[in-house]
Amino acid sequence: MTRHLLDIDDLTAPELAEVLDRCADPSPPPPVLAGRGVALIFEKPSNRTRNSTEMAVVQLGGHPISLKPDEVDIGGRESAEDVARTLACYHSVIAARVFDHSILERMAAAVDIPVVNLLSDHSHPLQALADLLTIRAELGDLARRTVTWVGDYSNVARSLGLAASMSGMGLRFACPPGYDPPPEDLARFGDLGAPVADADPDPKAMVDGADVVVTDAWYSMGQEAERAVRKPIFEPYRVDAGLMSAAAPNAIFLHCLPAHRGEEVTDDVLDGPQSRVWPEATNRLPAARGALEWLVRRTWTEA
Ligand code: CP
Ligand code: NVA
Repeated sequence: MTRHLLDIDDLTAPELAEVLDRCADPSPPPPVLAGRGVALIFEKPSNRTRNSTEMAVVQLGGHPISLKPDEVDIGGRESAEDVARTLACYHSVIAARVFDHSILERMAAAVDIPVVNLLSDHSHPLQALADLLTIRAELGDLARRTVTWVGDYSNVARSLGLAASMSGMGLRFACPPGYDPPPEDLARFGDLGAPVADADPDPKAMVDGADVVVTDAWYSMGQEAERAVRKPIFEPYRVDAGLMSAAAPNAIFLHCLPAHRGEEVTDDVLDGPQSRVWPEATNRLPAARGALEWLVRRTWTEA
C-alpha cells in the first residue's frame, strides 16, 4: 500500500518508533532505491533539507533530481495533479517543499508512489524526526520528558508537537496570543499521548524545568512582509541565557535553522554549551534516509 509522509501523524505511534529506530541504525543503508529516481521539488529556498534529502537518496542507492519553481511551476504551467502524475512516470518517490500544504495532499491523491513533505506552511515532518533523534541521543527515553516551544507556533512547532506527543513527551508552548497553538491542536496532542499539553504566553513559566527548549524564526518563509508587525510582538520571546536558566540544569536547546541571530535566539545560547543545533542539523540526513527507506519498503516490498 502506498504510504505518504505529509505530517508525522501519517504514521501510527508504533510506526514512528520503528522509523526512528531505522534512522538511528548505524549499519550500512540498504539499497532500497537502487535503479530508482526521487524527484525533489522546492518552491522555497532550502539548505539542510535539499542537501540531506539528496544525500539520503544517494545513500539508499537512488538518484535524486531537484526541481526549482521555474522548472516545475505548480498551478502555473500545469496542475499539482499533472505535475505529480508526470514525475511518477520516472520516479519512485516525490518529495516537495511547498507554500500551500493542500498542494501536497493533491499530489498524494493523484499518484500511487510515496509523497513526502519537505516543509509546507502547515508542517515539517522530517525536521521533527531529526529533532526526536537528537533529543533521544541526548536524553535517552523520550517518555515523560518535557519540551517547551518558545515563539511562533510554526510548521516546525506543529510537527514537533505531534512527534513528541506520539512519543509520550510533555509539551508546553510559550507563544504570543494569536501566534499560539489552537485548542484543537492542544487537544490532539493530548489524544496522541502527551501527558501535558499546555500553552501560556509567559515564557519563563513555560520554560521552568523543561528538558528541551526549542524555537524557530519569528516569521517563516513567505511571511517576510509581516516582519515589522511581528518583531515587537515577539521581542519577549527571544531565547537568551536568562530564559535558558529557567530550564532544567541539563536542558538542551534546539533550533531547526536557519537562525536569525539576535532575534529569536541570542548568539550565546545558539553557540553555547546547551545548544545541540549542529547534531540536530546532522540528524537531518539519517532522518531523511530512515523515512525514505521505511516508505519505500512499506509501499513496495511489504505491499
Ligand atoms: N531546517 C530546514 O529545513 O532548513 P532548510 O530550510 O535550510 O532546508
Ligand atoms: N518555520 C520556518 C522553518 C524553516 C526551516 C519556515 O517555514 O520558514
